[in-house]
Amino acid sequence: MAGAEDHESDRGGPINMWVADPGFRTDPKIVDAFNFAVSNGCTHYFPAPGFDEHVLEKALARYYQEEQGVQVDPMNEVCPTHGAQEALSLSIQVCARPGDEMVVPEPTYSALIEKLGVFGLRPVFVPLLEEEHWRLDVDAVKSALTKKTRMVYLCDPNNPTGTVCSRAELDALGELLKENRGVSLLLDECYSRVLFDGSSHHSILDDRALLGQVYVVSSFSKTYAMTGWRLGYVVTGKENAERIKRLSEEYNGGVSYAVRYAGAAALAQCSESVRAMVVELEGRRRVMLEALAQIKDVACDTPNAGFEVFPNFSAYSRDSVNLSSDLEKKAGVKTMPGAKYGPSGEGHIRLVFCAEEGPRIKEGVSRISGLLRAQTA
Ligand SMILES: Cc1ncc(COP(=O)(O)O)c(C=O)c1O
Repeated sequence: MAGAEDHESDRGGPINMWVADPGFRTDPKIVDAFNFAVSNGCTHYFPAPGFDEHVLEKALARYYQEEQGVQVDPMNEVCPTHGAQEALSLSIQVCARPGDEMVVPEPTYSALIEKLGVFGLRPVFVPLLEEEHWRLDVDAVKSALTKKTRMVYLCDPNNPTGTVCSRAELDALGELLKENRGVSLLLDECYSRVLFDGSSHHSILDDRALLGQVYVVSSFSKTYAMTGWRLGYVVTGKENAERIKRLSEEYNGGVSYAVRYAGAAALAQCSESVRAMVVELEGRRRVMLEALAQIKDVACDTPNAGFEVFPNFSAYSRDSVNLSSDLEKKAGVKTMPGAKYGPSGEGHIRLVFCAEEGPRIKEGVSRISGLLRAQTA
């Protein structure tokens, strides 16, 4: 994983500050584990003799125990899924019904907002404030609850802001859930291992009294540069987990065993390459922030996690969809409009620093700066 592929540079195409797909190779140890499983008969509905059907669930339970000091039951509380996308969809499907409300602190993960439309849930947005560094306000979440609230969604660490919840914020959220037993928390932790500046990620799972009320979703896509492998999971209480596994079985027959073996190898053997990737990303983040600081009237918080920055371009445009389109067409830089991440994202553009190496990041920001100068001249 440590070797960057830098395929966009090779193609000489537009600069990719758009899609949060890391330009790193999957660690060969993960590929080897997959090849070993396939070569030894894991090509059927069931694993080959000698292969453990629950290898991934056990590896995840070990990971939670060793890395987060959290006890989860691998057989009853862990559900492998086709990426976090499926994990989020299945959690919503087992928990909520069309017409229910989901409280969504935003800006937040754009695909989650799109999902709510598909499943007929009504989003109740709770603005996170830039002047508060986008921090979670649990009192504001509490004020947004109504009789129709079925779920609260939280992306921690947050995509696109890179904010990481503190222990106190998660504890306050846990208390709120205890006061509202009919409300569940959909907690998206896809970036929990891509942390900078010594930040720590805290788990809500250490309070087992909440387990039946939380759906913790995560993914191998970001941490292990495995976006194309489509591997994620949900950790939740036994009853919810049974329903999620049943739905997953009905939709797609579950995750392939060879991919499960690859995921187990990632957890057991790849901490070093994860560390190397995070160090590289921290450098790219610095390049991005230094370059953005050169643009007049553009403020940008320093993200403590994730693959992206979320600068404020409202001095130049309040229409982020239009600005993002101009950046692609006129400057050759692909970006995401802030409005996709919720109403409070308007005026911002999300720029990823995971896909391109430092010099291309510098070049991308310089092109953005050039276009803004030309438009205001
Ligand atoms: C916050 C967040 N959740 C979920 C996902 C989806 O991950 P996966 O590739 O595992 O479906 C992403 C990917 O961009 C993400 O940023």
